[in-house]
Amino acid sequence: MPMSRSTSQAASASTDIPQSPQSAVLIIGAGNMGAAFARGLVSAGGFKVLVHDIHQARVGELSRTLQIEAVTSPAAALVGVDAVILCVKPQDLAAVAGPLAGQIPGACLVISILAGMQIQDIANLLRHHGAVVRAMPNIAATVHAAATAISGNDALSEVQKSLAERIFKAIGEVDWIKESLLDAVTGLSGSGPAYLYMVIEALTDGGVKMGIPRILAARLATQTVLGSALLVKETGLHPAILRDQVTTPGGTTISAIHELEDRGLRAMLISAVETATLRSASLRQKT
Ligand SMILES: NC(=O)c1ccc[n+]([C@@H]2O[C@H](COP(=O)([O-])OP(=O)(O)OC[C@H]3O[C@@H](n4cnc5c(N)ncnc54)[C@H](OP(=O)(O)O)[C@@H]3O)[C@@H](O)[C@H]2O)c1
Repeated sequence: MPMSRSTSQAASASTDIPQSPQSAVLIIGAGNMGAAFARGLVSAGGFKVLVHDIHQARVGELSRTLQIEAVTSPAAALVGVDAVILCVKPQDLAAVAGPLAGQIPGACLVISILAGMQIQDIANLLRHHGAVVRAMPNIAATVHAAATAISGNDALSEVQKSLAERIFKAIGEVDWIKESLLDAVTGLSGSGPAYLYMVIEALTDGGVKMGIPRILAARLATQTVLGSALLVKETGLHPAILRDQVTTPGGTTISAIHELEDRGLRAMLISAVETATLRSASLRQKT
């Protein structure tokens, strides 16, 4: 018996054993983020996942490995779909939106993760009068550890709010934010993994400079970043308190902190977030 696409159809006719309601989610674009959503939703459970991409091979592989439905025409697959997630690059949105314009049922939630693309632009392009959520996740979605902030329009119902939260919790953590701050989220957590990769790389090079074999230096640097983040998260303590706890008077750490302050590490990172935020906003003005 084919799986239901509707949240309201929950019972198996053949066994009469009640099954959990499933939300049908259509992912458009099966690249880095689309594939991460597919894997996250399948492993979270409670979703019927459909996926579409212009590359049949990409969709075919995902559909085989995850046992999800491959869709050749998104417009023809919309009946009973509870949410559509747009996971294409901004320059490909027009090609995706063309055949979908005016076709998405009013009750279907549209989710866009396209950097810089505003809720109203998405709604206009798709001629969709229902709920739209704009989100900024990050690449850690691929390991179920994304930091995501989302914003929605007035058409969003309580049920759709919780559906959006369930979808983003399947790839990591999610918080609601006002739309005007999503460029800043792009500058902080959207682009943030790249900043931290540089930190890991630089710490590794520091270790190598001091004689540690590269593979070990990389492992130590990576685990240090991961463990420090976990400590901040799990203790809920301000990072400065945690830093003070490991800073012995006259010790090694305070010497390094002096160097980092002297060379402006903090100011550099603040400026990085600021400049990426401004860039995100300026990209929109150009389109
Ligand atoms: N990656 C990140 O860290 C990140 C973080 C936050 C938000 N985002 C946003 O997420 C979106 C997707 O990023 P990504 O890294 O997943 O991109 P990606 O890996 O390039 O995936 C996009 C996929 O969509 C396909 N595609 C292009 N045109 C299409 C069409 N008309 N119909 C169906 N599929 C089409 C692409 O094919 P081709 O390869 O041929 O183009 C590719 O397979 C972007 O808008 C980005 O702003 C990304």
